[in-house]
Amino acid sequence: MTEQKRLTRALEALCAWYRAGHRDLPWRRTPEPYPVWVSEIMLQQTRVQAVIPYYERFLRALPTVQALAEAPEEQLLKLWEGLGYYSRARNLQRAARVICTQYGGEVPTSREQLLALPGIGPYTAGAVASIAGGERCPAVDGNVLRVLSRLFARTWDIRAQRTKRQAEEELTAAMSEQSPGDCNQALMELGAVVCLPNGEPLCGSCPIAPLCRAHADGAEQQYPVRAPKKQRPVERRAVFLLWNNGRLALRKRPETGLLAGLWEFPNCPEGGDPAEQLGVPLRNMRQTGRAKHIFTHLEWHMTGWTAQTEETGYFTWVTPQQLERDIALPSAFRAFRRMALTTED
Ligand code: ADE
Repeated sequence: MTEQKRLTRALEALCAWYRAGHRDLPWRRTPEPYPVWVSEIMLQQTRVQAVIPYYERFLRALPTVQALAEAPEEQLLKLWEGLGYYSRARNLQRAARVICTQYGGEVPTSREQLLALPGIGPYTAGAVASIAGGERCPAVDGNVLRVLSRLFARTWDIRAQRTKRQAEEELTAAMSEQSPGDCNQALMELGAVVCLPNGEPLCGSCPIAPLCRAHADGAEQQYPVRAPKKQRPVERRAVFLLWNNGRLALRKRPETGLLAGLWEFPNCPEGGDPAEQLGVPLRNMRQTGRAKHIFTHLEWHMTGWTAQTEETGYFTWVTPQQLERDIALPSAFRAFRRMALTTED
């Protein structure tokens, strides 16, 4: 059997399997472009179970593209708090503004038009156009590449752009005209509940096990082949809970780079004199604990300190209640926020 034929058969079997029953996820109940788009952006770097409550709260707060376009930045970021990768939220809003001006507030459903919007790449454009618009186009992410790697027992480099492009071409040729959205969701579903990444894939319940070359070879675990990961550089930072009169110091990060434009507790590289680096006097400095945060290309190993200081115009001062209720703080600082909320000034 040619690979193309194998893929066509596999997609047919997968679609039938998907239609016979799948996870009841909230964005699958209304294949409207706006909720599908929001869900796909949230799902880009976050697991389904973690996304569900965020998705529901987000759509309750901002039920239309118009509402998203007009939302104050602090509200938007607060709705996103905990999901991470805040540029996704900012791009969502930028795209909503474009949709309001160029498309009268209706999210476009053609892959080409979607691709031109901020924050929408080939995966998201393919998912929204196929699920909400019925366009025959693929949505290739890591899950889909894993399924294809096993189906064909391929040793391609799944991080390479050309691998993605090859998968997109092969899927486009093999997808059915009738229900491309189901085809894509069936592939995602298989990757999420059967063709699992680590540990045992559940080949006993796989509708395409009879077509799978890796399974025939008893070698499911060997695919996809991964190049060894590069070690991330580690930055050691001191993070400060600076108190003054029952209020805590926050500052905004620079508008570009890591965690751009987001709030943070004042922090600086470890070593050196923190009072000098932060530009304020520090009294009663005490260590409060340590935490690590792993970014895609960098790790922060942080030591937390509390200290008393003087009110300066340089920081923004908030009560612990305001911090909890109004401020979106990146998850990198989660442990220190907990410390701030449970320790006294
Ligand atoms: N992961 C990415 N998109 C998804 C979707 N629409 N359903 C389930 N998991 C997904």
